[in-house]
Amino acid sequence: MGIADNGSGAVELRSVSRRYGAGESRVTALDGVSLAFPAGTFTAVMGPSGSGKSTLLQCAAGLDRPTSGSVRLGGTELTALSERRLTLLRRERIGFVFQAFNLLPSLTAEQNVALPLRLAGRRPRGAEVREVLRRVGLGGRARHRPSELSGGQQQRVALARALITRPEVLFGDEPTGALDSRTGREVLALLRGMVDDDGRTVVMVTHDPLAASYADRVVFLVDGRVHGELAGAGAGEIAARMATLEAAEQEAVPC
Ligand SMILES: Nc1ncnc2c1ncn2[C@@H]1O[C@H](COP(=O)(O)OP(=O)(O)OP(=O)(O)O)[C@@H](O)[C@H]1O
Ligand SMILES: [Mg+2]
Repeated sequence: MGIADNGSGAVELRSVSRRYGAGESRVTALDGVSLAFPAGTFTAVMGPSGSGKSTLLQCAAGLDRPTSGSVRLGGTELTALSERRLTLLRRERIGFVFQAFNLLPSLTAEQNVALPLRLAGRRPRGAEVREVLRRVGLGGRARHRPSELSGGQQQRVALARALITRPEVLFGDEPTGALDSRTGREVLALLRGMVDDDGRTVVMVTHDPLAASYADRVVFLVDGRVHGELAGAGAGEIAARMATLEAAEQEAVPC
């Protein structure tokens, strides 16, 4: 942790743009996004397909570099770090649950969960690993390989793997997208608990208004730009806002 870093788990993006390609195939995935994710808060990010949600998360988590703009975690400017420093910072302070689970097929659930600790040079304690698996409801599946688990169970192993290092910030890209509604609610309650009980920061992309209603705040993205937000809204209000955004987008795109 640097001197200027208070380790608060707050994430701040200032004028972040991310462009892909060149010439006619140039795409602006993020267009001058400024957002703060205060420490100890739960934010949902919503928007139509292709609006830049995953790109936003990847830039905020230091997995992708913006074309321009600033990304800070606590007092650390991520865009100024070398690849090596960025990798270390991600390992120590950030958790990420992807849309695809990215589990290693040859490892058991507990070995997959223990992997981030091994990568950080720490010897994983069996009890610690089993406790995290128990929290995601997989206490009885520690010795199973991904191919022996359902999609929802694999998703929960991926979540356990993100939780094992006790990250300050957890980013989830549709972490409940592949889950049935009951398992999804359990995972959402777990994320809510990380914020309420442990003061961690959670940022989650979702297409599901009910999932988004677990967050303190919903930020809407359209065409790579922030298009308003809702605080403390219920699923109905969030769904209505999404419907308005999608209708406006369809009018804007000539068929
Ligand atoms: N590696 C890449 N190369 C070129 N264009 C890309 C790349 N990754 C994303 N894009 C483009 O950037 C835009 C934003 O993509 P992004 O994946 O962030 O959208 P999203 O909001 O997460 O969509 P979805 O809801 O479908 O997951 C899209 O137009 C996409 O085609
Ligand atoms: Mg996406």
